[in-house]
Amino acid sequence: MIELAASILSADFARLGAEAQAAVEGGATVLHVDIMDGHFVPNLTIGPPVVASLRRVSRVPLDCHLMIEHPDEFIPVFAEAGVDWISVHQEACTHLDRTLHLIASHGCKPGVVINPATPIHVLDEVLPLVHHVLVMSVNPGFGGQTFIPSSLQKIETLAKVRDSRGLQFRIEVDGGVHHDTVATIVRAGAEILVAGSAVFEEGNPREGARRLLESAIGTGASAVPLET
Ligand code: DX5
Ligand code: ZN
Repeated sequence: MIELAASILSADFARLGAEAQAAVEGGATVLHVDIMDGHFVPNLTIGPPVVASLRRVSRVPLDCHLMIEHPDEFIPVFAEAGVDWISVHQEACTHLDRTLHLIASHGCKPGVVINPATPIHVLDEVLPLVHHVLVMSVNPGFGGQTFIPSSLQKIETLAKVRDSRGLQFRIEVDGGVHHDTVATIVRAGAEILVAGSAVFEEGNPREGARRLLESAIGTGASAVPLET
């Protein structure tokens, strides 16, 4: 079962609520919220007040992708702002086990993210703790970048490791998920497809989401149904 997590990074922030709602109407069942601090990644985005506003206008799960240093200091405020899932970068966490437990203790689903240069095996010890593993298929910081093909191998390996260890985590992919790449990404085993520019860049998020899901489902995969 696949689902689309629309990344609001590429939305028109002056019309954030309406754009997010349009993506959901087009089939997105998760909203992916990118939090950047200008240190861990060379860009800045939004903080808890904007997330809290988004929470008030949308019922779908908010998937908070923290691209920040010292994430432990901010997990409580993002949980308070109403996010459902929180993922942290393995590269940003000295005490990753503790951080994942902290996320769960605030009632959110914990996820771990790895950059393109980080191998899967560094996650061996934490895989039983996470709700999702997010494979970055671009170097984080910006929307609209080109998919890095070696990410496909990482997705395949993760799916095999999950089967062989009898684990439950979901596999999410983020970066360069577009109409021309999504089919191979789904075939590799990704289940949660984060897409920003593919959904929002043409100014019609409902249609962008619908078309991307159509390309993904063309692989024979089925999508999580829309809430009615
Ligand atoms: C990049 C972010 C992504 C970004 C993806 O660092 O984590 O979520 O929005 O953008 P696209 O889908 O345009 O590659
Ligand atoms: Zn992201």
